[in-house]
Amino acid sequence: MPHTLKDVLPVTAEVAANDHLFIGGCDSQELADVYGTPLFVFCEETFRARTRQYKQAFPEATIYYASKAFLCLQMCSLIEQEGLSLDVASGGELHTALAAGFPPERMILHGNNKLDSDILAAVDAGVGVIALDNFEDIDRTATAARGTKQDVVLRVTPGVEAHTHHYIQTGQEDSKFGMSIEGGSAMEAVERTLNEETLQLLGVHAHIGSNIFSYDPFGKTIEILFEFLAQVKARFGVSLPEVNLGGGVGIPYLAGDYPARLDLLAALVNEVAERQAKASGIELPHLSFEPGRFLVGNAMVTLYSVGTIKEVPGIRTFVGIDGGMSDNIRPALYQARYSALLANKARHVPTHLVTLAGMHCESGDILLQDVALPESIQRGDIVAIPATGAYGYSMASNYNKQPRPAVVLVKEGKSRVIVRRESFDDLTRLDVKT
Ligand code: LLP
Repeated sequence: MPHTLKDVLPVTAEVAANDHLFIGGCDSQELADVYGTPLFVFCEETFRARTRQYKQAFPEATIYYASKAFLCLQMCSLIEQEGLSLDVASGGELHTALAAGFPPERMILHGNNKLDSDILAAVDAGVGVIALDNFEDIDRTATAARGTKQDVVLRVTPGVEAHTHHYIQTGQEDSKFGMSIEGGSAMEAVERTLNEETLQLLGVHAHIGSNIFSYDPFGKTIEILFEFLAQVKARFGVSLPEVNLGGGVGIPYLAGDYPARLDLLAALVNEVAERQAKASGIELPHLSFEPGRFLVGNAMVTLYSVGTIKEVPGIRTFVGIDGGMSDNIRPALYQARYSALLANKARHVPTHLVTLAGMHCESGDILLQDVALPESIQRGDIVAIPATGAYGYSMASNYNKQPRPAVVLVKEGKSRVIVRRESFDDLTRLDVKT
């Protein structure tokens, strides 16, 4: 295996004697032959290792997997087996989790613009916690919960800036999510929620952003949230027991990216939490987290077949692959960068600078610009792009009527489909022709 991609690839990745990349004991060339390309290959061991890392770092915390990163029925089983809880942020995610038989009491429902039907469905199903994002959420959830007492947390904006792409920053004041601590709406929300007989206010929630690599913003968030809880206590005489810090821990995408040190993050979180609880005069609240990317990001690799190779003399070589922005919108949307290797020539030295171009009718459909691949690259080779597990499949589309790829779970030399590839017939299944 190219040593430099060790932290980016799944933990089971290795290069066998035939020069092929193996994941979960499966030959990626064979996977491509059997299941076709593009193909998401999901390494169960990597996912389980990451969940255990999180649980080890925060043994007392509730860990909700953020299902928006990647969700399917089988994923719900894996989450359940690992003893994690589940963050759902739409009626569809809730429906999928319920269809999988995931215990509703272990779910949290999010959303900045929840439908009445989502709230009703969540209350009816017995979803453990609903995160109230705004004043209308408070009223509508209180109404939906008549006859019961629904546990809720308030989503607040702590005014912390996370150093990440601005599309995925969420903790700042100017955000469509949550209620402002500084502006006073969070405190008003506490009062209103406490006055609702059908709501049980557990505490506060803040998610400051995604793919974050510095841990300080998490510490800063704890300080602000604990201080807020102290003000709540002073004003209303209630001690709110829950602080949910959301997700956001970053992952390696490129050679040289360092893997997140959850042990360091946990040390910082614990140190700040204890110090701030004392300083604010509150009891140490129970902490929750909602990691998505960290758990599933590096667990998947996307395999593509090489098609047309076009050389523009003196400028660049375009290597055409059979997917693109329909299975990975992140480069086009966030200028996200990835690495790549030739899965069937994994030991060939990557000396040839090429641009991996998707098959869509957009000049911007470029998955990787200027990536080094072996000189021997040719039609039919298999390109592997690692770290596509989070927000890859879940943001996939049918642009250009491209069927969405299959997702195959690999473990100990065995593979099985957990999401079928869409067929051409699937592409017209919703059409109505008169
Ligand atoms: N909790 C809440 C309330 C969230 O909004 C999110 C992500 C998470 C947890 C999980 O964050 P993570 O641990 O995965 O960073 N599509 C973007 C990422 C958007 C994240 C949205 N919210 C991307 O591809 O980078």
